[in-house]
Order: sequence, then structure tokens, then C-alpha cells
Amino acid sequence: MTERLCQLSGGEALSCGPSLLKKGMEKGSSKIVDLESIERLSLRGANLTKALMAFSCKGIYYPRVLSVNRLLESVIKVIGQTAGIDIKIKTELSQEVAEIIGDDGQLYQTIMNLCLNACEAMPEGGTMTVKTAEVKPEEGFFMVHPGLRKGRYVSISVSDTGGGMDAETTEHIFEPFFTTHSLAERPGLGLSMVSSVVEGHGGCIDVESETGKGSTFTIYLPAAREKKREATPEQVVTLKGNETIMIVDNDKDFRKSTARWLNELGYAVLETQSGEDALHLLEDKKDDIDIVLLNMLMEGLSGEETFMKMRDMVPGLAVIICTGYSIDNGARQLLAEGARDFIQKPFEHDSLARKIRQVLDNH
Ligand SMILES: Nc1ncnc2c1ncn2[C@@H]1O[C@H](COP(=O)(O)OP(=O)(O)O)[C@@H](O)[C@H]1O
Ligand SMILES: [Mg+2]
Repeated sequence: MTERLCQLSGGEALSCGPSLLKKGMEKGSSKIVDLESIERLSLRGANLTKALMAFSCKGIYYPRVLSVNRLLESVIKVIGQTAGIDIKIKTELSQEVAEIIGDDGQLYQTIMNLCLNACEAMPEGGTMTVKTAEVKPEEGFFMVHPGLRKGRYVSISVSDTGGGMDAETTEHIFEPFFTTHSLAERPGLGLSMVSSVVEGHGGCIDVESETGKGSTFTIYLPAAREKKREATPEQVVTLKGNETIMIVDNDKDFRKSTARWLNELGYAVLETQSGEDALHLLEDKKDDIDIVLLNMLMEGLSGEETFMKMRDMVPGLAVIICTGYSIDNGARQLLAEGARDFIQKPFEHDSLARKIRQVLDNH
């Protein structure tokens, strides 16, 4: 099944049929309405195909020993900047929690999706609470989840005080394309991605929710068997590095000044002036580029389109989005799709360098 999906060239072929048929038909006719629904569904099909390809075809599972708390801290830092001021973020991260083995990019995106959903569930404000704990589940847990390895687990839970869900909705939330938001702009793939990543990591996910009372999503991931690393003394923050950064931005002055300054810190910098150029360069230097600083507003391919195409070429590529505005819907959607951070222009050079180090060190 996976192989067949991989052959479907991203579903583009599926989505152009209805638009061709629509030509010459009367506006508002029932046939047009039907074709429009088919078109919407096939566009969403294209998105699903892409998401599935990213998960399954390209062998992008890069397991490492990871600290769940560090991963959460970096998600929360970004969420803290994107959530409205009416949303309070509480964290209860157990310092005793074991490490896990997993793909940090996938898990980052998973936790990011849960947090974005929690924030979206509280348009009037509220509290999001993120907790970690180490648990030794009882027999009953393994009866409900028979495929799971016996032993210790790390739990990550994201709770909100939003509107919650009724039982009927809860039953469908992990299905691809299920969304209660407007269909046109929402792929409704967040939670189906979350559940396939969690499953791929040998874990499971539980949901508790009640209408009017908020929701709690809890992920369980198998604890790594090896001993916990000794707590390291306060790490010295360094802004320097020797990795390769690609800057994608139309603005020559911005590129030059940022590149000069990153060079001084020790980084190698590749400059490209458009999404198209960035894709060509990435094709050539896939293995050399460690991180991308991508502008959202560009002529030609937009930042959003460039991001999607780059992600198809190099799944798991670390990308920091650069916007002229504070976080907007486009940038938020890219965080849900796996971008690692965002920075608003104009910015202090030091804050960019700190973000770059943080993303690279967690990568
Ligand atoms: N924390 C939450 N509170 C209430 N409803 C939620 C929450 N998280 C997810 N949902 C429901 O699950 C649906 C599917 O979520 P998701 O797969 O992330 O897609 P999307 O966010 O694009 O709608 C949402 O549309 C919403 O109805
Ligand atoms: Mg979502």
C-alpha cells in the first residue's frame, strides 16, 4: 500500500481533473458544487499523499537518544511566542524522566501539533499545561495496547482548558482529513501525523476530553533502556558554530549583512535570492546544508511553497522561518508541518544566533 502511494506523484494528477471539467459549466450549478467537493477532497488527497510519502518512503526515521524535556522546552519556547497573551502556559517537567530513543524532528513536530491544537481550542484564552513523567504502566494498559513492549514509559501530556470534544468527535480525530475547522485552509492531518509518529516510535496516545471541560492528550513512548545521563553543569551558551546555513531571501542587503555576521561566528553561509534558487542549491548540496533561514514573503515561489518542496527533497531538514510580521497563519501552519522555529524581522543578530544554535543542538 505504501509503495503504491509513493508512486502517485503527490496526487497532483488527481486534483487537476475536476478544474478542467468545471470549465464551461454554469456557476453555482449542482454539478459545479459536486466537482468542487471532489476538487477539495483530491487536493486534500494530494496533501495526504505527500505526508505519507514523507513518513514512509524516504526512510527519514533518524533515531537518537533524546531528552524529552529538552525537546518540550524548545517547542514551548516557540509556542510561547506564537500563542496569544490570553493563553497561559504551565510546564511540569519531571527531572527524573528517562531518555527515549526517537527521531527528534518527528517528535518535535508531534508535540508542536498537540500544542497548536491546544491553543486553537482556546480562542478566548485559557491555560495549556505540558507535563512529563516516567511511568511503569500496569497490566491493564498492555491489555488495551497489546502491541506495546512491556516496561517503563515516558509520558508527555498536553492539556488545555478549551471547549473540549464530545465522544463522537473524539472517535474521529485521528482520521486523516478530519477537521472541525474550515476545510479550505485546514488539511486536518495534524493528529493523523501525530498518531503515526507515535506508533512508529513504539508508543501510543490517549485522549481525555469532555465538552466544555478541555482536553488532555497523553503520549506514551518507551523509555530508553540505558542509564540516564548525569545532569550536566549549566551549559555555557555559545553562539558560535561551524555548520552550513543557507539563507533564502530576496533582500540582498539582508542576506549580505546576515551572512557576514554568521561568517564571523564561524558558520559557512550559502546565499540564495529565491525559492527556486534555493531548491536548485539544495539538490546539489543536500548533505552539506545543516539549516535553512527561509523568508516567508518572496516573489516567485513563496516561503510556504519553498518549505514544502524542500521538505519533500530533504525530509527532516531544519528550517527557521523568517517573517516581516509577528507569527501569522502561514508561519503557524509551517510550524505544524515541521519548521523548527521562526524569527521576526528586524531581529537582533544575537537572537538569530541563539535560535540557530538551539535548533542545531537539538537536531
Ligand atoms: N485540544 C483540542 N481541543 C478540542 N478539539 C481538538 C483538540 N485537538 C484536536 N481537536 C479536534 O481534532 C480535529 C483534528 O485535529 P488535527 O488533526 O490537528 O487537524 P486540524 O488542526 O487541521 O483541524 C480538530 O479539527 C479539532 O476538532
Ligand atoms: Mg491541528
